Amino acid sequence: MSEEVFRSPKKHGRIMVLLSGRGSNFMAIADAAAAGKIDAEIALVFSNKEDAPGLAAARDRGLPTLALSPKLFADKTEYDKAVVREAEARNIDLICLAGYMKVLTPDFCNAYKNRILNIHPALLPSFPGLHVQQQALDWGVRYSGCTVHFVSAEVDMGAIVLQAAVPVLHDDTADALAERILIEEHKIYPEAVKLFFDGRLEIRGRRVFIL
Ligand code: GAR
Repeated sequence: MSEEVFRSPKKHGRIMVLLSGRGSNFMAIADAAAAGKIDAEIALVFSNKEDAPGLAAARDRGLPTLALSPKLFADKTEYDKAVVREAEARNIDLICLAGYMKVLTPDFCNAYKNRILNIHPALLPSFPGLHVQQQALDWGVRYSGCTVHFVSAEVDMGAIVLQAAVPVLHDDTADALAERILIEEHKIYPEAVKLFFDGRLEIRGRRVFIL
């Protein structure tokens, strides 16, 4: 049985960021792009929440933004179709989920197969889902961290691109651990996007090889 192989394109890319909140990961990617460290531009910052602070930050940087309220759509399928249309209209090469608190429909995942990245604040496949820093504390792990992965229809289960580990300290709170993890998120997310547009990511099955 031959294995499907995907190689990321080496090109000047167009990125669409999807966010629902603060947007610090978006800013880390935008800074890297503005500094020429990533061969790409942010073509759209999109949110499901009109009042997301990350959208305001994007506007302040003069980047194109768009918010669409899910309430205006009949269901998730129609909503995600609209988001895909916005991406297609702008010739987007890569979608970066950056604190986007909506699960993408399988149709969305398929439309941009191998072209959606997410950052998750735990070492997947441990602690998928929400409130994962608290989950890590409650479990008693000695290390947690963050994961950049491709997005597939199964939530938090797509092929892993990069991970970074941080220690869990005895007196940690979920917030303190989240802060320590966030510092690493801001390093590995821009790095993963850079590797993508340098044409250096090769997906073979579940594994991502860095060329
Ligand atoms: C980040 O910690 C990110 O890893 C997490 O939300 C935060 C967003 O922060 N994402 C998830 O939990 C996705 N399941 P930001 O808005 O400052 O980038």
